[in-house]
Amino acid sequence: MTKSNEGLAMASSPVESGAVKWDEFDKLHVIRSLRELVGRWWKIQLNFTDTKGFLRGVPEGRFFNPLNSVCKAVTGDQKGFQGCLGTARKTTVDATNSKDSRLFKCHAGFSAISVPIRVNNQYLGCVFGDGFIVEETAAEQRVQIKSYLDRAFPGRAHELMADVDKLPVLSKKEVAYLTELIELVVDEMLRANKVVADSQKKVAELRKELGARYGFDSMIGKSGVMQAMYRMLERVAISDATVLIQGENGTGKELIAKAVHYNSQHRGTKFLVVNCGAFNENLLESELFGHIKGSFTGAVRDKKGLFEEADGGTLFLDEVGEMSMAMQVKMLRVLQEGTFTPVGSTQVRKSNARVLAATNRDLAAMVKQGTFREDLFYRLNVINVTVPPLRDRKEDIPLLVDHFLAAFGKQVNKPAKTLSVACMEDLLNHEWPGNVRELENEIERLCVLAGDDKEISNDFLSPRIKDSVAKSPNAQYRLDGKLKDALEDLEKEMIRQGLERTRWNKSKLAKELGISRAGLIMKVEKYGLEKRGERSGSAS
Ligand SMILES: Nc1ncnc2c1ncn2[C@@H]1O[C@H](COP(=O)(O)OP(=O)(O)OP(=O)(O)O)[C@@H](O)[C@H]1O
Ligand SMILES: [Mg+2]
Repeated sequence: MTKSNEGLAMASSPVESGAVKWDEFDKLHVIRSLRELVGRWWKIQLNFTDTKGFLRGVPEGRFFNPLNSVCKAVTGDQKGFQGCLGTARKTTVDATNSKDSRLFKCHAGFSAISVPIRVNNQYLGCVFGDGFIVEETAAEQRVQIKSYLDRAFPGRAHELMADVDKLPVLSKKEVAYLTELIELVVDEMLRANKVVADSQKKVAELRKELGARYGFDSMIGKSGVMQAMYRMLERVAISDATVLIQGENGTGKELIAKAVHYNSQHRGTKFLVVNCGAFNENLLESELFGHIKGSFTGAVRDKKGLFEEADGGTLFLDEVGEMSMAMQVKMLRVLQEGTFTPVGSTQVRKSNARVLAATNRDLAAMVKQGTFREDLFYRLNVINVTVPPLRDRKEDIPLLVDHFLAAFGKQVNKPAKTLSVACMEDLLNHEWPGNVRELENEIERLCVLAGDDKEISNDFLSPRIKDSVAKSPNAQYRLDGKLKDALEDLEKEMIRQGLERTRWNKSKLAKELGISRAGLIMKVEKYGLEKRGERSGSAS
């Protein structure tokens, strides 16, 4: 059947899920026009039926709205109407496994064409054009129609037959043309459906992205400082002001920049990132402002810069404190005037990109030292978001841990693991110089090393975390947690130190500790204190 309609097969659409928007199709301009055309030329009415043969997309109360007076009389009669419905149902059901348009005769002897609607091999129903006579079979059709009218309308058969004679008779060529037009209607239905499906998919994806990754809600953290930051970000997102995000390494600066973009009016546009510390001065200039062909060795063609690419969207200048003084001047110009000049060009260009910037450097101190321009600092710092380090919001650690445990579980398609009380406590006592990223990496490492263990023991913690915890004042005593865990930790620590002191002489240590050698070996195994190399998958 339809040549192009197969090509429009779509990956996901309301049609596929069975929710065919028949009423919407009737509102489409192109479908209305085609319906009107077919009606005007041949007095043929186009109808849609679903897979069961029920009429769809017809205004209420106007089931079968034939344009010729004979079909009008037939559908106006109860028995005749049932006959029309029967034909539509049978034809639609018959077309279930077919791809082809079909020319057939209705119960009253009129010709009709049905075109099946298929998406990805799923059958959705038919479009019908009916109530006409075909040249080649005209004589035979007239006999059939007359016999039907004689039976159904004994008193009016003569008068109705006179109307039949006035109906247009379609030549073979016209039938082919009519078929093509109906196929076109089907193509338009699929095309329209695809547009709806695509836009629904885009909205759903955007929502998912917002909700699951960049939304303020998915920026994990319930501490007071984070709550205050969310409230601020909500206000910041809806403005177009430049934002300077400051914070230590791995505190989530980029996450915040994305959250601002995806919650702003620019959410449907581009979010582009440039790491200002990753380029030398010349490359950064070309990256940001573009260049023209031949402006330097290697510039083999014109290249658009990120300011131009992000026009109307958001440009995130990461590590903005790494910019050279010369670049700072150019940056000031684009921020103040919205204009820039590509490398090697004399032509001034404009950009309307919203700028977000981030740094882990103390820009105010750099201004004082004379390494960062004061005017640029103020221009970037219209709104300042300072992300608190993880050590100042320890109450967020358990939440973040759960979040990362769940994420890694999902990654390997297994239920999320948990941490032993002691392990969680050690994480709480660590100072986290690498902030959330360090925590995220540590959880990933723990998940891998714990193998099939459902609960992760603190034996697997990285040496730097163990060491920092051992030095921490909190490590001397426990403020909370189960007594059993505390005793186990003490026991483990005594054995660990004893093993080192006795150079792994287990008989000697067992005697010192007042337990049997077998008992000590069991405990060494339990706590994973075997000598390096004795045990595979050891934590350190
Ligand atoms: N509040 C948070 N909730 C969940 N994940 C977070 C949070 N903050 C940071 N992360 C995660 O920590 C990692 C580091 O975050 P991000 O890259 O945004 O930090 P950054 O401040 O830009 O780091 P850098 O200073 O190294 O550029 C990312 O994987 C991010 O998803
Ligand atoms: Mg970053």
